Amino acid sequence: MSQPQVVTEIDELRARLAGKQVALVPTMGALHDGHLALVDRAAELADTVVVSIFVNPLQFGPSEDLEKYPRDLEGDLATLEGHGVAYVFAPTPAEMYPDGKPQTTLRGGGVAEILEGRSRPGHFDGMLTVVAKLFGIVRPHVAVFGQKDAQQLFLVQRMVRDLDMLVRIEPVDTVREPDGLAISSRNRYLSPEERAAAPALHRALEAAASAGDRGIDAVLAAAQSVLMGEELVTVDYLKVVDPRTFQPVPDDYRGPARALIAAQVGSTRLIDNDALYLN
Ligand code: PAF
Repeated sequence: MSQPQVVTEIDELRARLAGKQVALVPTMGALHDGHLALVDRAAELADTVVVSIFVNPLQFGPSEDLEKYPRDLEGDLATLEGHGVAYVFAPTPAEMYPDGKPQTTLRGGGVAEILEGRSRPGHFDGMLTVVAKLFGIVRPHVAVFGQKDAQQLFLVQRMVRDLDMLVRIEPVDTVREPDGLAISSRNRYLSPEERAAAPALHRALEAAASAGDRGIDAVLAAAQSVLMGEELVTVDYLKVVDPRTFQPVPDDYRGPARALIAAQVGSTRLIDNDALYLN
């Protein structure tokens, strides 16, 4: 099966996409089965699938190693083979940001500053800025994002609503290993012992969901007790949010919710989340 065509220039991509119905899957490369689930969904939704591969400097903080982020375009193209992707858009930083850091950027507001945003200041503003640029370049009819990065998905959906962008956001469920570990490019950094401990995040989410009819305190206690049982897991945050606002739910909350966990597993930081219902 043929590989996608690689386009590195904005003008060329626009010319090739003129008049086409496009589904966009924005990525930073290091593609895995989680990304392939997004790509496969994109192929169901539009005739032309574009995968962008761009390690966006704007969403890396000073303490995060932009240079060390895995880059393997050849490997990514091989991974995409046979998944119906017409184009991989792989611009250079100079193509995306010809004047260096752009003067006009997006701000995600309060939700961009809590949870993941608290440990990665500026991350979500940089993410929203590049996603808005990608929407302007590709002009997709639909863009596909993973539920695994629930806060990112929420912020993108709100940006589209707030700015009346003409794109539909399609969420795709988290892809998991057979033992429940959410697939992530960071899993490769886990030692065998850490890998064995890492599914505790998913088990904690399951415990949280099954305590949903006993209220928020029981939900948090159930998840906490699973996480505390794993020596190699250190919790950064465990929160239950209202999916409409992404704010932590009050004690008397009833209705759909989302439990979110970030934890250090050895030296690797993992995140996971899942839906639950609070009665
Ligand atoms: O989720 C990612 O890989 C990135 O945050 C995204 C959406 C491609 C923007 O750079």
